[in-house]
Amino acid sequence: MTQPSDADLDVLTYLDAGEDVRAQLIADVRHGLSQRPYALPPKHLYDARGSQLFEEITQLPEYYQSRAEAGLLERVATDVAGELAPQTLVELGSGSSRKTRILLEALRQAGGGAYVAFDVSDDALRQALARLAGEAPWLATHGVVGDFDRHLGQLPVGAGPRLLALLGGTIGNLDPAAQVAFLAEAASLLDDDDGLLIGMDLVKDASVLRAAYDDAAGVTAEFNRNVLAVLNRELGGDFPVEEFAHVARWNPAEQRIEMRLRAPRALAVTLPGADLVVPLEAGEEILTELSCKFTRASAAQRLAEAGLRLARWEVDEGQRFAVALARPAT
Ligand code: SAH
Ligand code: TRP
Repeated sequence: MTQPSDADLDVLTYLDAGEDVRAQLIADVRHGLSQRPYALPPKHLYDARGSQLFEEITQLPEYYQSRAEAGLLERVATDVAGELAPQTLVELGSGSSRKTRILLEALRQAGGGAYVAFDVSDDALRQALARLAGEAPWLATHGVVGDFDRHLGQLPVGAGPRLLALLGGTIGNLDPAAQVAFLAEAASLLDDDDGLLIGMDLVKDASVLRAAYDDAAGVTAEFNRNVLAVLNRELGGDFPVEEFAHVARWNPAEQRIEMRLRAPRALAVTLPGADLVVPLEAGEEILTELSCKFTRASAAQRLAEAGLRLARWEVDEGQRFAVALARPAT
């Protein structure tokens, strides 16, 4: 994250000062790369280049998620907006806000007019809001830069009734315990007449899943490796980025894709900014991302544990992806 310039201050709110962002990166790296098995939290994948690469992933033939989810949003948006009559759409991990256009159109038809976009990537937010200013001049937008692991409680949620949205299968990037914690925090933002719309990727054939996370053009591999480029840049590191292999495995017991980066040879990577040397054996892997897949039952259970009920469940014709509407259980 870069520091806000004066011109941005009316558009973007930062829930974290620049120094805290750096301190968080250092803490994450020290925690994740000082003990084995090595792991890095996925939020550091999304610098300007990472956000751009993710946008390219959403267009790949193998990555059916974005198209399936857009189709589902087309199917449910008018109904959901009619039912809740939301004034404000609050999107967590909004990224490019592209599919959001479908929800915003329904919001407008239901008489709403405000959009709060929350993302860790200020680059993605800035681009998305600039585009929306042109495409939806009727909309009052507020970009909020922050980390949903830490800042959900500080998020300005606007006037109710509100619709919260968490799209792109992002919920699956948390492990089940963290999903419940996240959903419970999101639930605490909801009044009785609010709703939470969640996009969830479904359990399916392993080969389809593996292809979605290891595409033929190599964009996902490039995206995954980008986290090492971020560490090199921010912490003065010397990872030989392009030598690392992208690994995407289906874990059938946990029903999730696990993404890792594999060291090409024995290395002693130095990260001066974190005051750390990371020894890697040849072939040793760093876990960079989980992508948990759902069934209706596992989704309903996670929601119930967080004090939410599954009010609506829509699945695409290919049975690949689902959109869930959650409401406070009361
Ligand atoms: N909603 C978009 C993007 C999904 S990718 C879509 O459906 O296409 C995940 C998004 O969540 C990225 O934009 C990323 O920057 C953001 N993100 C990842 N970790 C985050 C965190 N800890 N806090 C806030 N945003 C985060
Ligand atoms: N939310 C996306 C998903 O799990 C994020 C994602 C897609 C991703 N492809 C990736 C994260 C590759 C890391 C690497 O589908």
